[in-house]
Amino acid sequence: MSTHPSAVPVRAMLVLGTRPEAIKLAPVVREMTLGAQFEPVVVTTGQHREMLHQMLDMLGVDTRIALDVMRTRQQLSDLTARLVRELGQVMRENRPDLVLVQGDTTTALAGALAAFYEKIPVAHVEAGLRTGVLDNPFPEELNRSLISRIARWHFAPTAAAARHLTAEGIPAEQVFTTGNTVVDNLLWVLDQGTGTSAFRTDARRILVTLHRRENQGERMRDMGRALTRLAGRGDVEIVLPLHKSPAVRDALLPELAGHPGISLVEPLGYLDFAATLADCDLVLTDSGGIQEEAPSLGKPALVLRTTTERPEAVEAGAARLIGTDPQALVTWTERLLDDPAEYQRMKGAGNPFGDGKAALRVLAQLAEDFAADVPVGLTASGPYSTA
Ligand code: UD1
Ligand code: UDP
Repeated sequence: MSTHPSAVPVRAMLVLGTRPEAIKLAPVVREMTLGAQFEPVVVTTGQHREMLHQMLDMLGVDTRIALDVMRTRQQLSDLTARLVRELGQVMRENRPDLVLVQGDTTTALAGALAAFYEKIPVAHVEAGLRTGVLDNPFPEELNRSLISRIARWHFAPTAAAARHLTAEGIPAEQVFTTGNTVVDNLLWVLDQGTGTSAFRTDARRILVTLHRRENQGERMRDMGRALTRLAGRGDVEIVLPLHKSPAVRDALLPELAGHPGISLVEPLGYLDFAATLADCDLVLTDSGGIQEEAPSLGKPALVLRTTTERPEAVEAGAARLIGTDPQALVTWTERLLDDPAEYQRMKGAGNPFGDGKAALRVLAQLAEDFAADVPVGLTASGPYSTA
């Protein structure tokens, strides 16, 4: 436990390794650089390579420390081991006042674990998401639950996420409802203006992304075939930015490459992705972040998964959890294409994920706790106290 002299900036190490972590931590880094209270130290792990690099400009700072842990088709255990070892060394050499991690990737879990081993307090951005099914999504549900055991600050995007944490015994005074920083970033990027949509025609425009591990293999191939049936209607244009994962490409390329009505494109930079999302009529996705962004822009989203940790969009009526059955994919998409009333209902449902000020709330809370005489050690109280 310690308090922090107010004249000295808090050295905050932000650990990020994948595309969505860069997108969702960018507003936090940008806010840090606007004031004098924090000194951001950005560590990129390289869990993703191209898909991470194309996001880094948004941070607005140099990434001071860049690891390079990605290996093609590496096993989760190898990735985790490499991350914990290398991040532990970085933390020992740099001794930040706190470590920030975001979400539920292996980078986030390893960042929290390495910080715990180094006795550095952890702040968790996008805390409290749960499906209640330990292996779905795999391995993210376990990752985020474990991070919650470690973190000192839990920044929950919604009231429901905050309730999950307190129900697990985390003291309410360590849980803060902030909104999701993805909204901050989307609004900021749309304000910058100049992305290019990937759609090329005036047909009904469907944006599709697929990458989750539990969908890979035969399931994903079947969903690819279902997309070719939709394209066979002749009145739709499907744009699918292909994730770099070889497992995703193995499943989708044989079905979809060169198919009329379907444009497979490389992962889009965020400006172009935001423009493409703003330009589409509807979204089919198994992504977490896109479930949050689509309602922010009034785009109906069909979620190609059997569980979601973001039920708020489904409850608001902006998204529908349709499962992974290929026939359901076709049926629900056609319903949205052909039933204007159903389409308008989903389109107008609104965004339950925040007001674009989440990063400000995260930093205000951290600044208050570091400036005041409150413990900023590993955990201040609660069932797993180390105090
Ligand atoms: C990871 C996260 C997942 C998140 C997703 C965002 C874990 C366990 N999973 O899944 O929660 O939703 O990122 O996209 O942390 N690859 C490249 N270039 C890249 C990125 C990936 O070649 O820029 C290839 C590599 O062969 C890599 C593979 O894709 O081994 C899989 O990447 P990995 O980070 O392990 O898992 P994702 O499925 O991307
Ligand atoms: N995204 C992007 N370009 C793309 C596809 C997605 O910039 O070609 C962004 C998207 O806006 C969202 C994030 O990547 O913010 C989602 O990443 P992904 O689906 O890989 O991961 P998840 O959110 O499921 O963890």
